[in-house]
Amino acid sequence: MAKQLSIGLDDHSYPIVIKDTRITANDLAPYIKGRQVMVVTNDTIAPLYLQSIVGELDAFNVDTLVLPDGEQYKNQATVDKIYDALLSQGHSRTTTLIALGGGVIGDMTGYAAACYQRGVNFIQIPTTLLSQVDSSVGGKTGINHPQGKNMIGAFKQPNAVFIDIGMLSTLAPREFSAGYAEVVKYALLGDAEFLTWLESNWAAIEQGDADTLISMIAHCCDMKAQVVEEDEKEHGKRALLNLGHTFGHAIEVEQGYGQWLHGEAVATGMIMAARLSQSLGKISTEDVQRVINILEKAKLPVKAPQHMTQNHELFLQHMAKDKKVLDGSLRLILLDKIGSAVITSDFELDTLINTIRAS
Ligand code: NAD
Ligand code: GLY
Repeated sequence: MAKQLSIGLDDHSYPIVIKDTRITANDLAPYIKGRQVMVVTNDTIAPLYLQSIVGELDAFNVDTLVLPDGEQYKNQATVDKIYDALLSQGHSRTTTLIALGGGVIGDMTGYAAACYQRGVNFIQIPTTLLSQVDSSVGGKTGINHPQGKNMIGAFKQPNAVFIDIGMLSTLAPREFSAGYAEVVKYALLGDAEFLTWLESNWAAIEQGDADTLISMIAHCCDMKAQVVEEDEKEHGKRALLNLGHTFGHAIEVEQGYGQWLHGEAVATGMIMAARLSQSLGKISTEDVQRVINILEKAKLPVKAPQHMTQNHELFLQHMAKDKKVLDGSLRLILLDKIGSAVITSDFELDTLINTIRAS
């Protein structure tokens, strides 16, 4: 089974191909503009998949760059290594960068593609579940700053996204679960029926059934494509895709990048958002329990770090730096029912503090 979607934007539409077979020259070649290609990956993914991709690019002049693996390297120093390699190997503005990896490689390579010579061609080959359902689609690219997650970046849409779900077979179960948190996110914010589908299909998802995974990933990409088509630069609706992220980013930054996985922090963050929604009378305690259950089943953390819940200032300090803060006012994505989210600053600080303490 294979599925192909497209994301239609004013001046840059592109395909998202999801399949359970290898990515080939026929897939890639139409989206490579000039003769030069640089495949950027990391030292975990390179031994697994780099040769298979490079082997499909015989018709091009291909360079490769293998970066250190880890969220802690998602920074300016690592992006500089991409520029160094491109410059020293003489890549011109018609070069194509291929990101072969998870969200960290995709975000950094996309950011380098946005900046190198003011913008070059860029293809995403996402290799984690998280990157296949979320980060490779939609054009958000960037790096972390010691003071804030994803604080430096650019919108840079790829020219194409190729997903081979076979690559998930080598992914650590903890990483698969982290990606699954983002899958649950789509259901909670916009599709109650999808939540029921996920609950019913968990066994097939966990076992890696190909058709189930392709359907699930395609559904997420389709939901994301619809949101991005409506609001590419996040002036409104796209912010809903950040359900759980304001709480989650606080956990990620406070714990130190790479300690809690991004998806793990988002899972706990979504439970915190659900608890706050329940305190405001928007959803029921049963709804909150349903959110906890689906995430707990996937072995995701459902409790925030204790030292952060006991000292709520640790949350508030980081949350105050969130990109959704406007004119000093903290805005959060909350649930007004299962399958529907809103962005709001309509909550009392005390209610937020009580939610943090109870989490
Ligand atoms: P990641 O890129 O760190 O990958 C997770 C781990 O899995 C790494 O150790 C990686 O080397 C390894 N790995 C990747 N593919 C593998 C495979 N097929 N087999 C074996 N190991 C493999 O993490 P991630 O969860 O993919 O992405 C998280 C990042 O994505 C965060 O930095 C987050 O901010 C970002 N993100 C961006 C967006 C966006 O819209 N741009 C959306 C969500 C998340
Ligand atoms: N991951 C959130 C977004 O792409 O907007």
